[in-house]
Parts: sequence; C-alpha cells; structure tokens
Amino acid sequence: MSRDAAMSPFTKAVYEGFSASPKFLPSWMFYDDRGDQLFRQIMAMPEYYLTDCEKEIFESQGSSIGEFVAGVSGQLEIVEPGAGDGAKTEILLEKWSSQGCQLKYVPIDISPHVLNLLKDRLSHSLPKIDVRPLALSFEQAFEKLHQTGSKRLFLFLGSNIGNMPMEKSIEFLRKIRNMMKEEDLLLVGFDLKKDPEIILSAYDDPHGITAAFNLNLLRRINRELGADFKVENFSHYASYDPVSGQARSYLISKKQQMVYISELGRSFAFDQWEPIHTEISAKFSTGEINRIATQSGFQILMYFEDKRAYYRNVILGPKLKQDSSV
Ligand code: AVI
Repeated sequence: MSRDAAMSPFTKAVYEGFSASPKFLPSWMFYDDRGDQLFRQIMAMPEYYLTDCEKEIFESQGSSIGEFVAGVSGQLEIVEPGAGDGAKTEILLEKWSSQGCQLKYVPIDISPHVLNLLKDRLSHSLPKIDVRPLALSFEQAFEKLHQTGSKRLFLFLGSNIGNMPMEKSIEFLRKIRNMMKEEDLLLVGFDLKKDPEIILSAYDDPHGITAAFNLNLLRRINRELGADFKVENFSHYASYDPVSGQARSYLISKKQQMVYISELGRSFAFDQWEPIHTEISAKFSTGEINRIATQSGFQILMYFEDKRAYYRNVILGPKLKQDSSV
C-alpha cells in the first residue's frame, strides 16, 4: 500500500496542505467537538449576521416557503448536507409540520456529535418527524441516498456554498441535481455582497471567537497527529476582497519556527509572517447566483430575502431538457 493510501483523510489533508506553497488547510477541519462549540458561539454573535438573517427569513416567510415546496401532497423528505446543529432548519420543520406536512428529515454532517444532539432535541420538540441522521461526508452520504418515491427537498443553508470556490460549488450542486427527480427541489442560502466593513467584522470579531475557531485547527493537529504547534506563535487574520467577494481567513506564523508532526514523522518549516490559508467565505451578487444555478442544471423558481437584503434563500428546481435554451 502506498504511504498516501495508508493515511487518514485528516492526516493526508495536513500533509498536502503543509507541503503546498502557499500552505493551506481545508475548512472542513474546523469541525471537531471544540470547533462545533465555537461555531455555535460564532452564530450567536451579533457581528455574524448570516444566522440572524436566515432565521428572520424562515420566521417571517417559512410558511410561504412550505406551501411552495410541499405542494398539494404535503409529504416531503428533507435531505440536508452540512446540517450542523439544525437550529434554523428546526424553524422550518416546526412551521411545516404545524401546517400539516408529513416530514422525514435526513440531516447529513461529518460530525456525529452534532447529529446526536440534533436528533435528541428533535425527538422532544418535534416527535412526529421521522429523523434519520447520516454521520458521513457528503460524498459518502450521496452514495447512500437511493432514489425514493417521495418528493425530496434538499437544503444547503447557512451560506455553506460560500466555503467552496465557485467551480467546486457548481460541481457540488450538479451532484445534487443528478440525484433529483423532476419534482424535487433545492433550497440554498446565499450570503449577499454588501458593505465590506460589515462582512469583515463577521470574520474578525472583537470577542476573539473567530480567532479561537481558526486557531483550534492547530490544537486539533496537535491532539490528533501528535504535533507540537505552539498556538501562541500564530495569529488569526481575516480579509475581505470586494472585487472577488471573498472573505478569506489565515493563520499567520508570528516567527520563524519548525513544527514536528509525529504522525507524519517529519517537521515543517514556517517563515516569519508566513500565512496558512484556512477558509474562503464567498459573498454573492444576483448575477453570480444566476450563473451558479444555470451552470449546475437548475432554474431559480423563487427567492426570499431578509429586510436588510443581506441574505437570500433561493428555491431551485431541475432545469428540464426542453428548457435548455433558457
Ligand atoms: C459554515 N460557514 C458558512 C461559515 C462561514 O461563514 O464561512 C464558517 C465560518 N467561518 C468563520 N466564521 C464562520
């Protein structure tokens, strides 16, 4: 077996990211138990407006969304990649089940910890809903999702789509498109372009929670791969480029240093002020949303915004063959 094939996905990603120039770590690595906890704190911060905006849309327009997506049958299987703690989805589930919909909910997340919390919570708050969590990567989960007779609604909320480069997001949505029947739908949350200062403060908060979230990556590598990162030798740096619409996060090495990773049996050198790129959080214009939808084989059927027009939830339906000229 090659050395590569023997490595866990986490080890391999660290090896690849630290061997690259510039160095990087993929953003899925944020979400260990501590990372999940810090992300919940981020979502509760006033500076991180995204969560409040999506909640506002679901609270004020969730019933209209439900009427549209559930249709006359009122039966719906909801599949949610990247469900996290499902707090926003719960608003929709609650509204739709009180509208008389019969719901099955399949939350998908890499973190079994958050899925257990979610299932427990929903078994008390919404016992009538059939909850079937899948603690898998999206790829593994998509292989398990066999065609069913029931109408499906896929959810991709929280502007998770912004954590992928544009071409990857198109590829990802196309995979969902290819699993869909004609009547299935997809609801996606997009964080919109806005005042750059507002965006920057969401990723560089004064409480230091986003910094702790970013630096937790190094603690995770220390713990899981036996590394000797001195976390205080790195700092969190966030930027926002209004041209590309990308918020980017980095860990900056404050001094020249060597870090040993015992699982890899080698050290990596970090120059003074060398960055490790850890995340892209893209913000979208209407034109970009249209392009992503069209290029991944969808048509936009409806959309909903919060009062400040910071954020948009878009309902997408498969573009049918005869619509291909549109
Ligand atoms: C999960 N994701 C959409 C968040 C975002 O806004 O990119 C993760 C995050 N990173 C820093 N703050 C929040």
